[in-house]
Amino acid sequence: MSTTTSTDQVLRAHAEQAYADELAALAAVDDRPRPPQWKLSPWAVSTYLLGGTLKDGTAISAKYLGNRRLIEIAIASLATDRALLLLGVPGTAKSWVSEHLAAAISGNSTLVVQGTAGTPEEAIRYGWNYARLLAEGPSEAALVPGPVMRAMADGGLVRVEELTRIPADVQDSLITILSEKTLPIPELDTEVQARRGFNLIATANNRDKGVNDLSSALRRRFTTVVLPLPDSLDQEIEIVQTRVASLGASLELPADLAELSEIRRVVTVMRELRSGQTADGRTTIKSPSSTLSTAEAISVMTSGLSLATHFGEGRVGAEEVAAGLVGAVVKDPIQDTVIWQEYLETVVRNRPEWADLYRACRDLETAN
Ligand SMILES: Nc1ncnc2c1ncn2[C@@H]1O[C@H](COP(=O)(O)OP(=O)(O)OP(=O)(O)O)[C@@H](O)[C@H]1O
Ligand SMILES: [Mg+2]
Repeated sequence: MSTTTSTDQVLRAHAEQAYADELAALAAVDDRPRPPQWKLSPWAVSTYLLGGTLKDGTAISAKYLGNRRLIEIAIASLATDRALLLLGVPGTAKSWVSEHLAAAISGNSTLVVQGTAGTPEEAIRYGWNYARLLAEGPSEAALVPGPVMRAMADGGLVRVEELTRIPADVQDSLITILSEKTLPIPELDTEVQARRGFNLIATANNRDKGVNDLSSALRRRFTTVVLPLPDSLDQEIEIVQTRVASLGASLELPADLAELSEIRRVVTVMRELRSGQTADGRTTIKSPSSTLSTAEAISVMTSGLSLATHFGEGRVGAEEVAAGLVGAVVKDPIQDTVIWQEYLETVVRNRPEWADLYRACRDLETAN
């Protein structure tokens, strides 16, 4: 069985596949010094993430919209031997930035450890092919290298998602790797020494409850970059618009049905509920338990787009976003319903230009 599928068949291409043209165009004009094993110079990596126009006229799309300096600090850290920790509340593009950094720097964003409460040490180090281990005893052929070991051997980047969910003792196995840059294999009386170019990008959510905080020994080995929520309404609208357009294209949904005015409205609702006050600062409202991040606004608009395309009258309007909005806001059926009702009655209802949204949300309740 072949496990490779052509890129236009996969549901979601890896960054290095989806943006192969941009990466090639950058490599072609990039004459600045590259750190060992890097596919691009730090300048080209930052242009890939932040967007720009190359001297040959090629347009590079912005992957990350926000503070340029944060991205530069992240890249500069990866060019040293310090690992990078991207920290932030959910939906602030930590995983997204990590994937694009790995794609631009090593041309491979697929070496990933997904951190969970059950992540075992083998997922970070190596495991065994047990049939072989039993038949032949420990040997290099029976060893199954994990993503970290592969990145060390290749001199590339490895990503660790949700680092703080990983149990503390397993997290600590990263300390030797990050400080000594070796991974001992006592069973074979050998070790893997990291090749130049090896580094690690971890992401962690600073909102998650019950997480395993990083030990100070481990934290010291990282440069921490905190990715913030978007500063302004306009910036957040731009992020949602860009992402909805590109998700729409990959799902073959016509993104131009999602008009800017509707995106503005969805983002406004999210920001108001998140910040606990209306955009004009006049009314205080309660915030629901859910995190209403940019990512939620993106999915409300994308599902609205699907509704409009398949069942609607050709544009994303109040009816198409209402269900998605309620679903995003009401995560706790009791508390959040009360908060949402209050917002609906005190804010949405009092905005004459939002009458259609008020009606669509009320209609949903009576339909239930
Ligand atoms: N500033 C931004 N620039 C570009 N895209 C953004 C920005 N903020 C959020 N997004 C978009 O939001 C979506 C969610 O991002 P992502 O999954 O990376 O969040 P996360 O920080 O890893 O969240 P979690 O903590 O839940 O894992 C992505 O599609 C990303 O494109
Ligand atoms: Mg993430």
